[in-house]
Formats: sequence, C-alpha cells, structure tokens
Amino acid sequence: MEVFDTAAGFSAALARARAHGQLVGLVPTMGALHAGHVSLIERAAAECDCVAVTIFVNPLQFADPSDIEHYPRTLRSDLVACEGAGAVVVFAPPVTEMYPDWPAPPATTVSVAGTHERFEARSRPGHFDGVATVVAKLFSIAGACRAYFGEKDFEQLAVVRTLVADLSLPVEVHGCPTVREPDGLALSSRNVRLSAGERAAAVVLSRALDVGVTAVAGGERSPGAVADAMAAVIGTEPLVALDYACAVDALTFAVPDKLGDSRPVRLLIAARVGPVRLIDNCAARSPKPPARASFVLVGADTASGGG
Ligand code: PAF
Repeated sequence: MEVFDTAAGFSAALARARAHGQLVGLVPTMGALHAGHVSLIERAAAECDCVAVTIFVNPLQFADPSDIEHYPRTLRSDLVACEGAGAVVVFAPPVTEMYPDWPAPPATTVSVAGTHERFEARSRPGHFDGVATVVAKLFSIAGACRAYFGEKDFEQLAVVRTLVADLSLPVEVHGCPTVREPDGLALSSRNVRLSAGERAAAVVLSRALDVGVTAVAGGERSPGAVADAMAAVIGTEPLVALDYACAVDALTFAVPDKLGDSRPVRLLIAARVGPVRLIDNCAARSPKPPARASFVLVGADTASGGG
C-alpha cells in the first residue's frame, strides 16, 4: 500500500491506475477508522480495481473548536485497517497541503444551496460548506472514480450527490448502509469519547428510530406523531439530550403533510450524549395500501350470458 501526503503524489498514483485500465474506488474519511469505514473500503475493494482512502481531519467542517481538538487521531492503526480492508493507496495530507494559508480559510469554498435550512446544517452552521469544499477538493485531486460514503451521515450523502451533479464531477457516488454495534448503536468515531454509562445510554438513539419505524409501518401518517414518539423514547434516558427527531421526505428533507404518500421516508435523530453529539437515521416504510381491484364486476345476467 502506498501512502501519500502530497496531493500531486496521490493524484499521479490514481492517474497511473486509470491509465492501466483500473476502476478507482475512493473512500474519503477523517480517520479514527472503525468497522463502518472498513465496510466502505471492503465494498470499494469488491467493486473496484484500485481502492484509495483519504484520511484528513478537515478543520473547515468543525464549528465547535473543542470537537476538532478532541477528534481522535489514530493514523498508525488507520493504515493497518486500510491495508487489511483492501486499500492500495492512502492520502493523509497535513492541513497546509489542503489549505496552504491555514488558519486562513481558502478563498474559494463550495456551498450547496438549500442545505442550510436542513437539520444538521441548522445545528452546525457552516458544517456542510466545509464538507462540500473538502470533498470537491478531494474529488478534484483524485479524478474519475467511484466514491463510497456511509448512509449514517444521510444529509452529507445528499450534499455530496448534489455537489457531484451540479459541478458535473466525474464521480459516481455510492451510499452504503450504516454499520451498528450488536445493541443497535451506529458506529461513529465519536463513540470512543463516551464513558461506559454514556455508551450504554447512547443506544436510546437507535431504540427511538425503531419506535419510529414501527409507528410508520403500523400506519401512522402524521410526521409530528412519529417525531413525538421518538422524542419520548429519548426522554426516558437522562444522560441523553435530544437535539431533533423527525420524519422527513428522504429526497427533499422536507417534513411532508402526511407520510406514506408514495415518497420515501427517512427518520432522522440527533442528540447530545455527555461530551459528544451523535446522529443516526433510517428508512421507514408505510404499510402498502390495499391493492385496487383491476377487474370490473359484471351483473349476474351478463355473467350468465343472459340477455
Ligand atoms: O464523513 C466524513 O468522514 C467527512 O465528513 C468527510 C466526507 C471525509 C469530509 O471530511
């Protein structure tokens, strides 16, 4: 496995792979790799010829200075995980390689319109501009590829899809399912900062989502009622402070008047658990409406051929 800390070296390695007819799979990360990241790298390795992982804790996407300060950095073990999962190239640049004037931000940043009103964006102002900017840079450095992102960051995935479509980037974006602990907690690099008690309490996020899924599957059509049911579950856990719980249209992130009108539904949740803010989400499906009869009943006379 080759490890680069310069954009030029990384870019050239991927250009060489493409010149040999290889399909490049890219997994952008901020390091502190866990089984969720490993599943992305493994999926890329199963579908692509040359798998590249980027490891960069992007300062542009952190609104809270204490969050970036405490963000785990585990480069050595990350490299072992990358190699074990099938990566052949890693790009782990210092901050000045990505933003030469740092701590001054770059003059050019990328902002995906419409995302600012959404849930994570409202709770973390500027976050998605930071994500869009670094992802646009990483895609530009990497060149044509398939890129793999986890569905755990569902709004981020939508931002990246819009970015790629709007800027006509030569990247095929693949969303991959969230990986969970056996008790349901979604894997996150931030989980390591939870105390044992907080870790036990954090499972309430996925339990709340389960309650939401069951409500929608049981025919609940009011987004407010589903949100309240999820919030009530979070309310049972004193160590967890709810930020938001909601049922939205999975494509537009708007809260619909009614759920289940043939539009996909996504349940989103965010909460603070001790020192960290955790997010989770999942799809919810309304029960299928009874099939409409596609035949016409004919009268007894007609059926018997009478008349
Ligand atoms: O999901 C992440 O780890 C980051 O937001 C990403 C996409 C690598 C951009 O820094």
